Amino acid sequence: MTQATLPDRFTATQAALELAGQSHVLAFFDRLTDERKEHLLSQIEAIDWPEIAGLIESHVKNKPEFELPENIEPAPCYPFEPTATQADEYRRARELGESLIREGKVAAFTVAGGQGTRLGWDGPKGTFPATPIRGVSLFGCFAEYLLKVKQKYGCACPWYIMTSPVNDAPTRAFFDTNDYFGLDRNDVMMFPQAMMPAIDAATGLALLDSPDSLALSPNGHGGSLKALHTSGALADMNRRGVEQLSYTQVDNPIVRVVDPLFIGLHAAQGCEMSSKMLPKVAPKEKLGNFCLANGRVAVIEYSDLPDELAERRRDDGQLWFRAGSIAIHAISVAFIESLVGGSGFALPFHRADKKVPFVDLATGERVEPQTPNAVKLETFVFDALPMCENSLVYETDRIEEFAPIKNADGTDSADSSRKIQTERAARWLEAAGVKITRDKNGDVDGVIEIQAGTAIEPDDLGACDLPGSIGPGSKTLI
Ligand code: UTP
Repeated sequence: MTQATLPDRFTATQAALELAGQSHVLAFFDRLTDERKEHLLSQIEAIDWPEIAGLIESHVKNKPEFELPENIEPAPCYPFEPTATQADEYRRARELGESLIREGKVAAFTVAGGQGTRLGWDGPKGTFPATPIRGVSLFGCFAEYLLKVKQKYGCACPWYIMTSPVNDAPTRAFFDTNDYFGLDRNDVMMFPQAMMPAIDAATGLALLDSPDSLALSPNGHGGSLKALHTSGALADMNRRGVEQLSYTQVDNPIVRVVDPLFIGLHAAQGCEMSSKMLPKVAPKEKLGNFCLANGRVAVIEYSDLPDELAERRRDDGQLWFRAGSIAIHAISVAFIESLVGGSGFALPFHRADKKVPFVDLATGERVEPQTPNAVKLETFVFDALPMCENSLVYETDRIEEFAPIKNADGTDSADSSRKIQTERAARWLEAAGVKITRDKNGDVDGVIEIQAGTAIEPDDLGACDLPGSIGPGSKTLI
């Protein structure tokens, strides 16, 4: 097949842009070198401009109103620890999850295409040093976890990582430099997600980041489902016989990268997509709310849940909507495949108002806005939940599994995450009979890190030679 020439591509692009009312993005085209022309054309060609034109009408010129489903109630949840009547079901689920891992039917999937603006780290977020003593990166934590899974179950879990066109190359370089952390590189597949143009909120025009580049941002973690298909990851899973995906985010160093119990509960019920939840600590905690909307599991964002519902309590004082979403899912490969073709991947777009630097078309100067000037459009993976006939929600424990690093300081920062990591390590060690020094507030007096190579769950410590006690102010690596 002959490649289209630059002038041909320009003509086709110009026509598509004109139809969408976005020809201005070629304003500086004539001044560019051929190489930069190629670059800009490739960016423009990757965008679905008719879709953008529709979204500008619905999401930029108008703000979509959230419609609360008519029939909503809290989603039922499997508790962290089984009740007496559930003990057998949990035991069988864990066995099922373990056998699926052993048979190579489970893969890990990390979404790492976000921009990480709040953290402000110079590099992909996954390269951020996360653990309290060794400073192992987020990617390193997940790699160590997967090495331990291989050691325990005698089978490697393939690992799919979604990057973005912006952080794909540095992510690959990081894995190369670290020799893939000892994983077989054939078991690690990275692929970039698609991008969306940022739109000027006042004019509805796509912004240029520079004369030869659109202002682009990743299309949200919802883009992961389609990207699994377009990248060939789904085909790779089929070749390997992978049936279940364990979906996690890049920012949580203590996430159970694959959790046999959760995968087993999900698979035993024949669920298409399942979720882990945390009980919220406050009615308006900034977590999505799991609910049943017209009988199907759905997530309603905290900002969309009316105060009256957010604050409603049961007779025992518990929040009525207590289940908060922490973006951990089990997803069946067959479900993702069922979305291929047609409009299956068409998750709803959400609008976010952001400050986006842009090139002033009149002067060619770059402008750094001080207030939000642009609309970014993203889809969210949890919007696939209502497409499922079967979907369960399983409660996890905050200290056991939730230490996200999102902000440079304060809540959900590296500091708060390292404290939770120490606390979790202390709990596991105390359960194994180690005496830990705690201060008057009950906090661990010192820093403890348990390497995933040693233990990924408390029972793994049984095989270790542990100290009898850990003294005040010490740094202890197990
Ligand atoms: P966040 O919503 O925390 O966004 O992403 P972020 O981009 O990492 O950080 P901020 O908001 O700019 O500070 C949650 C997870 O979803 C992934 C992120 O990499 C993270 O693992 N994500 C988000 C994607 O993979 N792609 C996206 O388009 C957005």
